[in-house]
Order: sequence, then structure tokens, then C-alpha cells
Amino acid sequence: MDGQEQLMLVMNDITKRFPGIVANDHVSFALRKGEIHTLLGENGAGKSTLMNVLDGIYYPDEGEIFIEGKRVNLRSPLDSMKHGIGMIHQHFMLVDSLSVIENVILGLESQGFFVDKRAIAHQIEAIATRYNFRVDPYARIWQLSVGEQQRVEIIKTLFRGARILILDEPTAVLTPQESEELFGILREMKSEGKSIIFISHKLNEVMSVSDRVTVLRKGRLIGTVDTAAVTEGELAKMMIGRDVLFRLERKKAELGPEVLKVEDALAYNDRGLIAVNKLNITVHAGEIVGIAGVAGNGQVELAECITGLRRLAGGHVALKGVDVTNASPCTLASAGVNYIPADRLGVGLVPNLSTIENAMLRNYRKEPISKGAFISYAAACTYTDGLIKKYDIAVPLQNAPVKVLSGGNMQKLLLAREIGERPKLLIAEHPTRGLDVGATEFVRSMLLEQRNNGVAILLISEDLDEILMVADRVAVMYEGRIVGIVDVDSVDVAQIGLMMAGSTAAVQS
Ligand SMILES: Nc1ncnc2c1ncn2[C@@H]1O[C@H](COP(=O)(O)OP(=O)(O)OP(=O)(O)O)[C@@H](O)[C@H]1O
Ligand SMILES: [Mg+2]
Repeated sequence: MDGQEQLMLVMNDITKRFPGIVANDHVSFALRKGEIHTLLGENGAGKSTLMNVLDGIYYPDEGEIFIEGKRVNLRSPLDSMKHGIGMIHQHFMLVDSLSVIENVILGLESQGFFVDKRAIAHQIEAIATRYNFRVDPYARIWQLSVGEQQRVEIIKTLFRGARILILDEPTAVLTPQESEELFGILREMKSEGKSIIFISHKLNEVMSVSDRVTVLRKGRLIGTVDTAAVTEGELAKMMIGRDVLFRLERKKAELGPEVLKVEDALAYNDRGLIAVNKLNITVHAGEIVGIAGVAGNGQVELAECITGLRRLAGGHVALKGVDVTNASPCTLASAGVNYIPADRLGVGLVPNLSTIENAMLRNYRKEPISKGAFISYAAACTYTDGLIKKYDIAVPLQNAPVKVLSGGNMQKLLLAREIGERPKLLIAEHPTRGLDVGATEFVRSMLLEQRNNGVAILLISEDLDEILMVADRVAVMYEGRIVGIVDVDSVDVAQIGLMMAGSTAAVQS
């Protein structure tokens, strides 16, 4: 057991600078054979950067990397792969229109001119069977659920012989059930002696799945600890340098007039199947209605119908008594409907525009940013600065494209823009996904603050704990319908769970 030979990987004194920021500042990290090691840290702490160094995407400015005691020089992902390192990125890197087989062999050198697809399909199935899951090698990526796509990413790295597996926030996009299945796969890999680096902001997951935790803060190493020897609270404190409230102060809702009324809404999903099925719901000023449900039960489509991004095939949507059924997104936005979509890079932000341009997307037509036919860049800067300060967004350079922000900081920017405007109705889809504990706490308290200011909020989340923490009423959505609405004070969690799973013994109130 004497350290050195058990070590699979050592990163020694790694420094990586970007314009305006030191993303990794002399960070050291050691990974044992057969361990699950969590990398923990606030949004922008430098976790993805450190792992991108290991995956050969970034070359460090300083520092050394050793694999099984040998110094290595990782100049590309191909180099890293040859050394047995495989990474599953925060934003997946599969080609949608290709099959599983084609994605698995994509970029491999040794396939030559002729590819024996049947042999590869067998190998893919063998890997899946070994870890107790299934995947259809001939399916196209776009046909697969997010959880299934992630398994393809895992197979892809294992197919290439990975012994060190890096997963960057793999559970951010998974349902709780899918996360459990993923942990089963990781434990299986661990028992075979593979080493796993896991990034997550969910402390309960970190505690249950990892052997050790390394904490980064603002690019620096804070320390490495055995999971068994710490509590969630202690980890949170290491991360952000202060105590975190895990409970929110909440006063009773003061209900104002009805803001949103959805009546008998009917809508189809992209595949032409019924997604929202004669659904009814109302949200009043000054209340938060939480929609709980397993992903894929029509939550996204419902939000899109209310924000004008999807056509209603039947039924009505009214805003403060005015019919807005199938109004354009622009009309709805100027009527005070704001939207925090789950897909921040696809719908919420424009990746290649700068932070300032993204920040002013919602109000560039209004004073003081709009000046006649012109846009006041100075006013836009001041406005953006205000958001950055209030929401504590880590932006190395305001003119750089927004895609260089860390995952969590992109989410904060989007939230700042949508919440900051004090809308009439706010639709928030997974608003804390990918946020660190401090930012999560902040966003939840912002939602409550806006509710206290009389905003009507529809909160869509798979995180039941989150809903119970901030919502006033909980509506459970199943197969396109609301199968039950209960007051948060009289909630029976077991019953909600049953309703989410489609139990017909649903309570109504
Ligand atoms: N290609 C890049 N160019 C410029 N700056 C970058 C680039 N990549 C990352 N950064 C900056 O480096 C810092 C660390 O980012 P990183 O993505 O490593 O954070 P993270 O710990 O993964 O955060 P999160 O939990 O939000 O994903 C951030 O301030 C980010 O804006
Ligand atoms: Mg990251």
C-alpha cells in the first residue's frame, strides 16, 4: 500500500492561463488505481480546464503529468487515448446523424479502408453487457435519450481501451434513476481496477459514489480528503470558503391576481406524438408553482407553448386575462414573459456573441441601451457590469465569446438576464442545473425574492427537493397531463413519487 506504485496518475504543479485569468494555478492531483475521485469546486474553479489538460485538449503552461510513474507529454486527445485516458465532456461530442457504431469508431486511426461493422457491433454489445446495460449499435444518435447518448460516450472511451475515465458533470443531464444506473456502471469499472475522475455539484452524489475528493477554488488547490472523513457541510465550506445554508427562509405566499391560465392545452412533440394532453394549470402573481415529473413527460413542450416557441394544437393560454394563444415569442417577451430554458447554449445564449451582447439580447430595444436608431455600447457595458456584480458571474473578458465561460457561469448569465428584468411571468426550467452549491442557494433565494415582488413563477425541475424548498404548490406532470396538484405544506413525498411514476391513485386538491 505504499503510495507510489498504487498511483495511476499524478498531475504535478499544473498551471494553465487564459487571457485575463489563471484557470489552474499550480494545481497538483493524484489518482489511485481503482478509485472514484471527485473533483469539486465552484463554477469557474478550473475543473473542466484541468481535465481538458489531461485529455490533451489544452497544453499546460507549467507542470508535469505522470501515468503509472512515467512522465508523459499529452499534446492531443489522441495522445491521451493512447495513454488510456478517456473523457466524457460536459457538453457531449457525438455526431447526431451518425449511428452508434460510426460514432464509436470515429477518429480512430487503425480502422483502415474497410470497416467490419458487424464485428464492431459485437464488441459494443459485449462492453454494454459487461456493465449491465443495453444499447442498439445501429441506432442513430438523435434517436437516443440523453442517458443513452451518455452510455455511447462511455462505450466510446472503453472501446478505445480507457483505464482512466473522466466524467465532467455526467449527472447534470440525468434523471435521478439514470444517475443511479450510471453509478452502478462506475462501481463496476472500479471493481475492475479502472480509475475514475468524477465532476459533480451534487454533494449527496459525491458522498455516495466517491472514495476521495479534491477541492479547487478560484484555480487553486484547496486539498484532497477521504470522503468517509468529511460531511457535506465541510465539503461545501472547502469549496466556497464559508458556511452554506441548506435551508431557505420562506414566508407564506401572498397571492395576487391570476397571471397565467392554461386551459385544455394540446401540443405535439418534434416526433409528432402528443406531448401536452389537455392540460390545465394556473399561476398567480406572488406564487411559485413547481412542476415535478420525470423528464420527457411534456414539461419542455408545455414551457415552449407558453413562451411561443411551440404551436398549441388545441386549448388556450391567457396572460392576465388576455388571450395569448400562439402569440409570437417576441410579443410574449414584451408582455413580460421571461424564460430560462434548460438548453442554455441552444436556446438561451448565442455561443459566439460576447457576454455584453448576450446580456443585452432582451432589452437592446429599450432605453437607455437603445438610442434612436443606435445602440449605446457604454450603457450596455454598464448594464452588463451590474449583472456581473450582482450575480457574481466569473467573466475573464467581456468581449470574449460567451462559450469560453465555464458551464455554470453561462447559466448564471442567462439567469441574471431573465430574472433581473422583473417579469410578470417567469418560466424557469432546471434553473440550478450545473450550478455550484453557493450559486444554487443564490438562485433559489432570487426566485423567492421575485415571488415576494409579485412575479408569477412556473418552476420546472426534476429535483423534487428543489421544488419542495421553493414552490408554494407542486403539480405533478405525467404523460402530458397534470395528475395532481398539492400545497407544499401538505405534501406527502412518497405520494408525489408515486404520481411521478404514473400511479393512478393520485391525490387531487
Ligand atoms: N478556452 C478558454 N478561453 C478563455 N477562458 C477560458 C477558456 N476555458 C475556460 N476559461 C475560463 O477559465 C475559468 C475556469 O473554467 P472551467 O471551465 O475550468 O471551470 P469549471 O470549474 O469547470 O466550472 P463549472 O462548474 O461552471 O463548469 C473560467 O473563468 C473560464 O471562463
Ligand atoms: Mg466545467
